[in-house]
Amino acid sequence: MGGKTLLSVFAFFSTLVDAQQKYVLTTGPTARSQCSATTAASPTFSFSTFAFTQSETYRYAIPVPSPTSTETFAAPFSALSSLIPHIVTTTWGSWNPNATVTATDFHDKYGSASWSALWENARPFLTNFTSTGIYSTTVSPTPVPSAELVLPPRDYFGPTDCYYFPDGFIYGVAGSASQIEGAISHEGKAPSAADIIAKDDPSQDYVTNENYYLYKQDIERLAAIGVKYYSFSIPWTRILPFAVPGSPVNRQAIDHYSDLIDFVIAKGMLPVVTLIHFDTPLQFYAANVSTLYEKPSVGYNNGAYQNETFLDSFVHYGKIVMTHFADRVPLWVTFNEPFVYCQNGHSVDTVIKAHAQLYHFYHDQINGTGKVGMKNSNLFGVPLDPLNASHVEAANDFNNFQLAIFGNPIYLGKDYPAVYKERVPDYVPLTKKDLDYMKGTADFWGTDAYTITVISPLSASESPCLNTPSNVFYPECEQQSWGGKFGWNVGYASQTFVYITPTYLRHYLSYLWNKYRSPIIVTEFGFPVANEAALPLAQQLFDSPRSQYYLSFMSEILKSIWEDGVQVLGVIAWSFVDNWEFGDFTPQYGMQTVNRTTQERHYKKSLFDFVDFIQARTWPN
Ligand SMILES: *[C@@H]1O[C@H](CO)[C@@H](O)[C@H](O)[C@H]1NC(C)=O
Ligand SMILES: *[C@@H]1O[C@H](CO)[C@@H](O)[C@H](O)[C@H]1NC(C)=O
Ligand SMILES: *[C@@H]1O[C@H](CO)[C@@H](O)[C@H](O)[C@H]1NC(C)=O
Ligand SMILES: *[C@@H]1O[C@H](CO)[C@@H](O)[C@H](O)[C@H]1NC(C)=O
Ligand SMILES: *[C@@H]1O[C@H](CO)[C@@H](O)[C@H](O)[C@H]1NC(C)=O
Ligand SMILES: *[C@@H]1O[C@H](CO)[C@@H](O)[C@H](O)[C@H]1NC(C)=O
Ligand SMILES: *[C@@H]1O[C@H](CO)[C@@H](O)[C@H](O)[C@H]1NC(C)=O
Repeated sequence: MGGKTLLSVFAFFSTLVDAQQKYVLTTGPTARSQCSATTAASPTFSFSTFAFTQSETYRYAIPVPSPTSTETFAAPFSALSSLIPHIVTTTWGSWNPNATVTATDFHDKYGSASWSALWENARPFLTNFTSTGIYSTTVSPTPVPSAELVLPPRDYFGPTDCYYFPDGFIYGVAGSASQIEGAISHEGKAPSAADIIAKDDPSQDYVTNENYYLYKQDIERLAAIGVKYYSFSIPWTRILPFAVPGSPVNRQAIDHYSDLIDFVIAKGMLPVVTLIHFDTPLQFYAANVSTLYEKPSVGYNNGAYQNETFLDSFVHYGKIVMTHFADRVPLWVTFNEPFVYCQNGHSVDTVIKAHAQLYHFYHDQINGTGKVGMKNSNLFGVPLDPLNASHVEAANDFNNFQLAIFGNPIYLGKDYPAVYKERVPDYVPLTKKDLDYMKGTADFWGTDAYTITVISPLSASESPCLNTPSNVFYPECEQQSWGGKFGWNVGYASQTFVYITPTYLRHYLSYLWNKYRSPIIVTEFGFPVANEAALPLAQQLFDSPRSQYYLSFMSEILKSIWEDGVQVLGVIAWSFVDNWEFGDFTPQYGMQTVNRTTQERHYKKSLFDFVDFIQARTWPN
């Protein structure tokens, strides 16, 4: 999630053909349809002998089984390397701003001096930079002590469904590089937008969870508790520090992620790779890095996707990563939440075309048998008054503006939605050839379906909705709230814009499935318990609201699958550990805590509950 960056925005809803939500006013106490007979009104009372005989059952977590064979999803790199231009690999070491010795090999435009210059150029945007935390080399994992793997007491109220997840249901947990890795200027990594996004924030952090060195322990902990899929992002700035085609590939980065993937597989898990997660190389802002902080005309931040060299460079980078790892990676995400970082119409054009090229490369040239998709952000916009046509229209506009700009061309081979063409004057028209090429270039719809938002039209005084710096409504041009028609919030509130809205998730899945006709993976969902960071550790670990969020959402997903006929392929929880939210360590989205002094992790109750919910609903084979 990108907490702060997303806070101000979000809206949704498009032609929801059937299943419109309605408010039904009624009276009387809650019906108890599960109660077949009425018990007599007069109980009888009696004495007995009291003893502490109540027994509690404790169980150990069931780890993922060790692999007995290794599935492959494409040929190895040696058989695919001819699909990309010849690459040169090299290494650069680490950048320390205090270094007294400097490289002088400026004759080599990709040498150490040029690489250091990338960091020197970023220096004005680096506040209180620290390059190293506790670790500077990969830590060997140790087995998780069994004492840490005892399941917590259940919450009293819980799911009562009898459904199973379909065979092969994907369940996993996610993080992203800039939010957990640290080692930000180590082993050849160049600076990215994520490294400077929060430059004026006291919580700008360069060390985060030191996952770059602790990845084996982090994966070991997930395998021990029974998590099947591990979703992570690879930073472009590690693979290709100079970003562009023709520049050398960082040997240390390839080795690092190859080793990470091997370790995931050795533990019986499967990897999910995202190619870009808000971490655009800074070179794409070269003309003026400060434009990173500009307010976009489409999304919420300037990801520089509109840069004239971005498209070809990204596709080149994606091909390098895919050819190296396609043999072992079953699930690929090209762009994480592209809407959030689209600066303008050219950014959107870049995203869909780059995505389609990589999809074709993966399936037509690599012949990969895995799946390629995108993760879409959008807090499903529901109309405040679903019986009022103007509210429904506003909600449709909201969702179309955020989703149909990608979904129409990629999933349906259809043109952009009207609302986008009206509001974004520099949108790039799509030709029939473009649409034919893009149609069907995704194997799943990834949705980061955190919660909903309630949409109503702007008032007359707020219209027309113009793109001016002071207009807080642009580009959504709708009113958003988390209060429903009768005054109540739509659900239990977290620290951020996430509310517990499980029944709306089912609604949202129907919307996406019926509109975009694609299998769905819930690629992120999560709940930052309000003020959790201020609680003593033992209370942070007993995170019942987060468990309630996950279990209720997954109960509704089962209803989507079995009662609504919606093809949901899997769920990936955000996040496997508390992490850096682009300028903040609170809100905490994690299912584990991190001690920021020692880097020690502790499982929270919700991670046990998440895994147990799925294991209990997995048909024994
Ligand atoms: C650079 O030196 C300053 C002052 O001694 C120190 O506070 C800082 O941590 C050093 N930075 C790095 C990256 O070593
Ligand atoms: C940088 O560190 C100094 C000294 O600790 C502190 O006063 C200042 O607030 C920090 N700046 C930011 C932006 O965090
Ligand atoms: C676009 O990116 C390239 C690096 O590939 C850079 O040289 C150029 O200055 C960037 N353009 C702008 C407008 O920032
Ligand atoms: C760089 O971009 C910032 C943000 O848009 C702007 O305020 C500044 O004037 C620009 N600087 C130059 C030299 O163009
Ligand atoms: C992919 O399949 C095509 C068509 O069958 C074939 O020509 C090509 O050689 C295959 N590529 C690889 C890398 O196996
Ligand atoms: C529909 O909503 C609009 C905007 O909130 C409002 O002005 C109008 O009165 C509503 N119409 C009805 C029939 O409720
Ligand atoms: C972090 O760990 C240290 C050492 O075990 C401990 O003293 C400290 O209380 C921990 N911090 C938190 C916030 O739990």
